[in-house]
Amino acid sequence: MLYIGVDLGTSAAKLLLMDENGKIHKIVSKEYPLYFPHPGWSEQDPKDWFTQSMEGIRELTAECDKSQIAGISFGGQMHGLVALDKNDEVIRPAILWNDGRTEKETDYLNQVIGKEKLSEYTANIAFAGFTAPKILWMKENEPENFARIAKIMLPKDYLAYRLSGVHCTDYSDASGMLLLDVKNKCWSKEMMEICSVTEEQLPKLYESYEVVGTLKPEIAAELGLSENVKVVAGAGDNAAAAVGTGTVGDGMCNISLGTSGTIFISSKTFGVDEHNALHSFDHADGYYHLMGCMLSAASCNKWWMDEILKTAEYSKEQEAITKLGENNVFYLPYLMGERSPHNDPKARAAFIGMSMDTTREEMTQAVLEGVAFGLRDSLEVAKSLGIRIERTKICGGGAKSPLWKKIIANVMNLKVDVIESEEGPGYGGAILAAVGCGEFASVEEAAQKLVKVVDTVEPDAELAAKYEERYQKFRKIYPAVKGLFRELA
Ligand code: XUL
Repeated sequence: MLYIGVDLGTSAAKLLLMDENGKIHKIVSKEYPLYFPHPGWSEQDPKDWFTQSMEGIRELTAECDKSQIAGISFGGQMHGLVALDKNDEVIRPAILWNDGRTEKETDYLNQVIGKEKLSEYTANIAFAGFTAPKILWMKENEPENFARIAKIMLPKDYLAYRLSGVHCTDYSDASGMLLLDVKNKCWSKEMMEICSVTEEQLPKLYESYEVVGTLKPEIAAELGLSENVKVVAGAGDNAAAAVGTGTVGDGMCNISLGTSGTIFISSKTFGVDEHNALHSFDHADGYYHLMGCMLSAASCNKWWMDEILKTAEYSKEQEAITKLGENNVFYLPYLMGERSPHNDPKARAAFIGMSMDTTREEMTQAVLEGVAFGLRDSLEVAKSLGIRIERTKICGGGAKSPLWKKIIANVMNLKVDVIESEEGPGYGGAILAAVGCGEFASVEEAAQKLVKVVDTVEPDAELAAKYEERYQKFRKIYPAVKGLFRELA
């Protein structure tokens, strides 16, 4: 049988077709625009997600035996607020995970309701990109839009809704709304009250590997697929990526180098870090995870290459870098503010340490290193909780770069296991579809059978020591300029 995995990302929908042996038959990518209507705001049109995904499915399945397609599932960009009215019309553009407009609402939640209460209700505190502060923002700033809300959903759930007609979400993605009681896997009554939303407006909750329905007849006809194709709930992109890299069960780690950068630690038991610097979310395998999320990771390199160096030759720029561990230039990767661990929407990117002999290569190297240092910040929080990690998987567009993987291995001092395919969320989505269709007894079993490690990048003791020294310098920069970011904002 064949399974479709859709990675509903921030720059594009990446779709893949996988068979029951885990073999990827085809990958298709369909881009859509991202809007920044004000500095720090980030929006997309949900209708673009749908039309581009439909186009993607058509292209993906053009040459295959369509009768073999059994299921479709998703890994979706998390936290985005999608609101529909009673006629199922999108009320306003979706407010995305990397949008920083809700500082006032986030402060209200963390300071007036209080972090302790939030953590008790949801296992998390408020971050600007989470969904609940966006709902409060809409209530305050667009009351006429707020009054029209009939259904609230997350990005991938909009796709599932258009395909199946079922208003659903899964526990992993719902965890990032700050409306879910993560430990007990139900909507939090207190949070619904605080946000003035009702359970009727919220999607029905599923495990990521559960079937929510089948393709609507008109959608099946449009795609030339059977009406029996199962739509499986899917997961937030990080949980889906973790499935796609085999980061399931207890104590496994995955780093995702996409538009965002995340470090994801799976766990069979529920846990919260007492300062809530890491997110405590449900996992797509039915258990839990901790996660640190930086808002700009591969997007820092993309910005540097596309907007500043004006080149498309990413690997050529990286080939010129020869002096790892030796660079006087530091880069703060906070182009869209920062989530973990600083929780500061006003933070911004910065270069520091240049002199007259600084080269283009050193600046490029600093960007790659700055992202690795940002991830290390979250790893330090995990270590402070007594979590011991020696190795990690890696996925996402940035994971295509051998140099970046080497920098990450040495900055984090971790063995980095490389998977056959770095298509984390899309591959995870296809695996979830296969589990939902009964091909495997559990997500863990599927991941064990399908995910293959093909290489390991080992840290080098000398280089790791040099990076340790540089990281200790890096971590002093943000506290030194934090106040300035507030003045400059
Ligand atoms: C996770 C997060 C990002 C997005 C990116 O909390 O906000 O990783 O899911 O798509």
